Amino acid sequence: MAKARTAWRCAQCSHVEVKWAGRCPECGEYGTFIEEAAERSGASSRVSMPVTRPVRLSEVRTAGDRRVPTGIDEFDRVLGGGLVRGSIVLLGGEPGIGKSTLLLQVADSLARSGKRVLYVCGEESPAQVKMRAERLACAGDIGLLPATDVTSVEAAALEDRADVLIVDSIQTMIDPDAPGTAGSVGQVRASTARLTRVAKEHGVTTLLVGHVTKEGAIAGPRVLEHMVDTVLYFEGDRDHTFRIVRAVKNRFGSISEIGVFEMAEGGLRVVANPSAALLEHRPVGASGSAVMAAMEGSRPVLVEIQALVSPSYLQMPRRLATGIELPRLLQVLAVLERHAGLTFGQQDVYVSVAGGVKISEPAADLPLALALASARRDIALPSGLASFGELGLAGEVRPVAHAAARAAEAARLGLHIIAAAPGRDTAVPGVDMRAMASVSAAVALVGG
Ligand code: TYD
Ligand code: MG
Repeated sequence: MAKARTAWRCAQCSHVEVKWAGRCPECGEYGTFIEEAAERSGASSRVSMPVTRPVRLSEVRTAGDRRVPTGIDEFDRVLGGGLVRGSIVLLGGEPGIGKSTLLLQVADSLARSGKRVLYVCGEESPAQVKMRAERLACAGDIGLLPATDVTSVEAAALEDRADVLIVDSIQTMIDPDAPGTAGSVGQVRASTARLTRVAKEHGVTTLLVGHVTKEGAIAGPRVLEHMVDTVLYFEGDRDHTFRIVRAVKNRFGSISEIGVFEMAEGGLRVVANPSAALLEHRPVGASGSAVMAAMEGSRPVLVEIQALVSPSYLQMPRRLATGIELPRLLQVLAVLERHAGLTFGQQDVYVSVAGGVKISEPAADLPLALALASARRDIALPSGLASFGELGLAGEVRPVAHAAARAAEAARLGLHIIAAAPGRDTAVPGVDMRAMASVSAAVALVGG
């Protein structure tokens, strides 16, 4: 008999090496190798595959009418209109962000609409789940299964004829046929594979909770993301009341929509008016604060970008960005120095997007530049001003998509002055459109 060999698998990218290595040659991460018993040959062929025959395209039934709304609007929006029957959804996020809370609310809403829901609590006892359910005022008839063995989960889902299966969390699941301990890449992958099979073969819609490490990776993240139909992440952090759910992969819908929630006493509450909520604590009349009219999927959302510029006592002045990518900040600083005559060489610069929101749109350049200019000069921007626009390296302001929708959302919230690139479709009633051809013209708004 061949000697059982072990393999080392990178927890980041699943790359396999025969020996331990400090740094993964595939993804470049350090200290990510985890020992795993090498898979027995043929282990993956445990189930004999039926012979597959081609189907006529005209005979294929679509999932169009099989989408089930969960009844929680913002969650349905991210999913693309609801849960597709037999699909498998991964909900990732840091511990304490609200994954269990959201899925219990989803379970309750589905159960109340007559769906059979099975909630596998691998991390908590049924009593703990019950306490949360009481806090959330859950009235639905949800099946609870305190189990970590994926075989019992499969059996219970089929026996209970579950329409929806919730597994909290995938890191607690154990597949007795797979090597490794709970939470290891091998186990997480094997358990997900088995649950995927149940989902597809029996039409059990499955929601998996996945914990994310500080670096933002679900254990064996790439592996899991490939195996499931939809991947949703909770954005923001425990210190903010706003929780944003964003799709990073969706086989059944767009990945640009976000769902905005607020953590309250009675659980997660849908935020119906995200712009108003995100601007609620805006310090009107303070320097360094600029309102950006952003687009999140099909919806315009106003967010506040804050900047703080202060004399540096360091040889290398500090640049810190929260919610905005650092390279973006560095580029905007360079454009301001070169084309608007503002100097930051002796200054520490901090920027952040209020409410724990992350913005990756290039349209953030102009509001970011305005916040920085306002902070540098210590003069507030006009309080009724919102902006959007990309900055070119030559200091020009470039147009971005959905200008009219952005301007209209700003006007709806009482911000009637809009700074943006000169464009065609930007005439919005009640809006004072200020076409900014260059960053220097825009910076004149500070105290202008
Ligand atoms: P939880 O959903 O357990 O987070 P996760 O499953 O992602 O680890 O809890 C999130 C946090 O929310 C927790 O610290 C307690 C808090 N919370 C509320 O503020 N209100 C509530 O109604 C509930 C249920 C939790
Ligand atoms: Mg939890």
